Amino acid sequence: PIEKLKSELLSVTSSNEWDEKAGFDINENESTVSITVVGASGDLAKKKIFPALFALYYEGCLPKHFTVYGYARSKMTDAELRNMVSKTLTCRIDKRENCGEKMEEFLKRCFYHSGQYDSEENFAQLDNKLKEHEGGKVSNRLFYLSIPPNIFIDAVKCASSSASSGNGWTRVIVEKPFGRDSDSSAALTKSLKQYLTEDQIFRIDHYLGKELVENLSVLRFSNLIFEPLWSRQYIRNVQLIFSEDFGTEGRGGYFDHYGIIRDIMQNHLLQILALFAMETPVSLDAEDIRNEKVKVLRSMRPLQLEDVVIGQYKSHSKGGVTYPAYTDDKTVPKDSLTPTFAAAALFIDNARWDGVPFLMKAGKALHNKRAEIRVQFRHVPGNLYNRNFGTDLDQATNELVIRVQPDEAIYLKINNKVPGLGMRLDCSNLNLHYAARYSKEIPDAYERLLLDAIEGERRLFIRSDELDAAWSLFTPVLAELEEKKIMPEYYPYGSRGPVGAHYLAARYNVRWG
Ligand code: NDP
Ligand code: BG6
Repeated sequence: PIEKLKSELLSVTSSNEWDEKAGFDINENESTVSITVVGASGDLAKKKIFPALFALYYEGCLPKHFTVYGYARSKMTDAELRNMVSKTLTCRIDKRENCGEKMEEFLKRCFYHSGQYDSEENFAQLDNKLKEHEGGKVSNRLFYLSIPPNIFIDAVKCASSSASSGNGWTRVIVEKPFGRDSDSSAALTKSLKQYLTEDQIFRIDHYLGKELVENLSVLRFSNLIFEPLWSRQYIRNVQLIFSEDFGTEGRGGYFDHYGIIRDIMQNHLLQILALFAMETPVSLDAEDIRNEKVKVLRSMRPLQLEDVVIGQYKSHSKGGVTYPAYTDDKTVPKDSLTPTFAAAALFIDNARWDGVPFLMKAGKALHNKRAEIRVQFRHVPGNLYNRNFGTDLDQATNELVIRVQPDEAIYLKINNKVPGLGMRLDCSNLNLHYAARYSKEIPDAYERLLLDAIEGERRLFIRSDELDAAWSLFTPVLAELEEKKIMPEYYPYGSRGPVGAHYLAARYNVRWG
């Protein structure tokens, strides 16, 4: 079918012909949306952006008149782009279904323009092509910057001056990293704002698009039983855990410049923390939610060096296989001190959270892959069961676990009587296991975020003051780690990470879940 599709697509020459083939009435006086993936030849575009756009199309979520343009320096024809994209599309939504027809329809709407990121002329050529497809309708344009950060500004400058919409909206999705520290982030924001207004900038943190992260506010604010417990009075500590069971494979060059604190903690884990700990927003309006997130971030103490443990994975052999060290990557300097693991204790100095440790742990090349929020509650006061039946009945404290991935679930650990004549307690789970409860496949984070950007919904994107607040928490410690050349603790590939993380947690009476 791909071969048949290729030959069909190659025969499509003009945009009118294309519109007719794709079943459009080009005279219809409606608006159009053109989505340009800048850096279309890259890893993220192939892995996430095109598949997410297809899933949205499959679900009928994209506007009637839309076009997807790939833009990059690599030379490619439309047919070659379609061929490349077709290899990454899957029938994610319903695996039993054959999506072939839908894929063909989608691919017919994908085009490619080769150009430099700093060439206004090349973007003007793209503009002409977009106009052909837009056929005089109101044109809305979304640019997705899926390129390395050093060329963000060039691309924004050229896109805004030569390819922005004349009569509709123009929005730009910017991928992380948003700088390396407070100063570089502020400089990036300043440069972006030379060409775009804050309303046009959609800073993406794909963790905000994950189903269970979105559900956090629902869990808190629409269940009576959680919100009253959500404070220092009942919660002993909160853990935010990210682990991957593979190394920096293929991305060592990027990673070495950033490290795990910038790659995961300052953005993904901190965003989850903000949603977890913020006060009730006035409404579900994007600005109301983001106002609350900023407030809680600004109530936090900047991270201290003594509250951080860093690690780096080293080579490890198991079952006849040798797993590489971080520094075995050819794009990483042999003497690199960049952390591939970090654990940190953070504190929020406000009335709700005073004294509660928020422990973060993030690492690559660990023994498993997971992202979780673990909320450990205080001991039951009075402890009736311990008093009456001795220490063998020692109760565990309650723990609420929100497993963001994989195998999404929310479960609450409770003490329960083991059925039978005696009195024995055990710790069991009240379990909301998504795969068992919901039959529908969970959308990929990029689907939700792309749809929101198209619809102009900013709730799940990072505002510039949020970004500033996030950087001020991590910038001093990052500078200190680098200035003092703090050595990471080495841990074997595939292990649980450095033991220092346990000592850090123990200092705050915490055991990692
Ligand atoms: P790539 O390194 O694959 O780059 C994307 C495209 O940009 C390349 O195909 C290339 O296209 C062009 N490019 C690469 N390097 C340069 C350069 N030095 N100068 C000019 N153009 C260059 O990046 P990814 O696709 O991995 O990531 C894109 C963005 O998304 C980055 O900002 C990254 O940090 C971020 N990101 C990526 C994730 C991932 O999983 N890959 C996850 C989260 C964020 P061509 O040569 O054809 O012009
Ligand atoms: C990216 C990081 O933002 O998130 C990567 O740059 C990391 O290093 C990735 O692997 C993890 O995303 P996910 O959705 O696979 O958990």
